Amino acid sequence: MRAIICEEYGPAETLISGYVDSPPLGPDDIRVRVHAAAVNFPDNLLIQGQYQVKPPLPFTPGFEVAGEVIEAGTNVTRHRVGDRIMALTRDGHGGFAEEAVARAELAVPVPEGMDYVTASGFYSSYGTSYYALVRRGRIQQGETLVVLGAAGGVGLASIEIARALGARIIAVASSADKLVAAKAHGAHHLIDYSREDMKQRVLELTDGRGADLCMDTVGGEAFNSMSRCMNHDGRLLIVGFASGQIPQIPANLLLLKNFQVVGIFWWPAVQRDPAQHQASFTQLSDMYRAGKLEPLISKTYPLEQTPEALKAILSRSLIGKLVITPTGDLH
Ligand SMILES: NC(=O)c1ccc[n+]([C@@H]2O[C@H](COP(=O)([O-])OP(=O)(O)OC[C@H]3O[C@@H](n4cnc5c(N)ncnc54)[C@H](OP(=O)(O)O)[C@@H]3O)[C@@H](O)[C@H]2O)c1
Repeated sequence: MRAIICEEYGPAETLISGYVDSPPLGPDDIRVRVHAAAVNFPDNLLIQGQYQVKPPLPFTPGFEVAGEVIEAGTNVTRHRVGDRIMALTRDGHGGFAEEAVARAELAVPVPEGMDYVTASGFYSSYGTSYYALVRRGRIQQGETLVVLGAAGGVGLASIEIARALGARIIAVASSADKLVAAKAHGAHHLIDYSREDMKQRVLELTDGRGADLCMDTVGGEAFNSMSRCMNHDGRLLIVGFASGQIPQIPANLLLLKNFQVVGIFWWPAVQRDPAQHQASFTQLSDMYRAGKLEPLISKTYPLEQTPEALKAILSRSLIGKLVITPTGDLH
């Protein structure tokens, strides 16, 4: 099959486009014909040997896929050949290829009416956002949520889910065009933190109370500002460090302001409780079918152009998701 191959750790331009054997299938796995594979920041870490897991070389990167089940392992009862699914791939047999393997128990059905390109950009962004906001953040109708990195994949998903659940949303991003996208996806208020004082604006917009919830995918200075404008009983959700800076927090701030800092790591939570994961996606599918979620895919690339896509997500200008289309069949 055609695949992108990482023969040695390095930047995206060192990847090779070629042919490899179909990946082996374990008893609990499904083999997926990959119609679409979203590009995520950790794909860049994986190919550079900087991710927490290092598959043996050579391997095919691509964590997130949507496609059709073409073979099921002997223990698999959840999915059958022909099912349309979304999944994360396994052990270096990744999605930047015509076929990938995934653990059947953790794959979920593509919602009715959703094409594969959209589905590949839906799984981890909406899965992470739902887990963060609903399971960990216990978001309530009428609460005020601040979303940092609001035009990123997780940011836009969080805005849409929170809006569907009746929250008031303050979107924070670094440029006017990103804020336009955040508004189009449901944000009520906008802050450009490249030129506005975020803490002061959040306090103004909440009549001095501060945010009930914050989705922080950015870290660094943005986290420091948010930790100083959280409401009593607020939940500051630590999701990622896109700024490259892991912040510290003085414990007395938590005591004085009575708010919580909550760690979010979606994939281990999925593996720990697959039933809850499937239930979350039932809710997300219902929201999608009700027209409340509109995932934004800003560009698709053919398989051979995977390195360009990997480089593009490192530029801070991206809005929404980028997707590779290994088979060229998008529906
Ligand atoms: N914990 C989990 O389970 C989990 C799951 C999925 C993703 N994540 C992490 O969450 C983060 C966001 O994911 P995503 O898919 O939304 O990523 P994304 O689409 O690339 O968006 C990230 C956002 O971060 C902001 N940012 C701030 N400083 C940046 C910098 N120096 N370089 C690039 N972006 C910067 C950008 O918004 P502004 O320009 O507006 O600041 C950008 O839109 C990533 O770090 C990812 O690894 C964590």
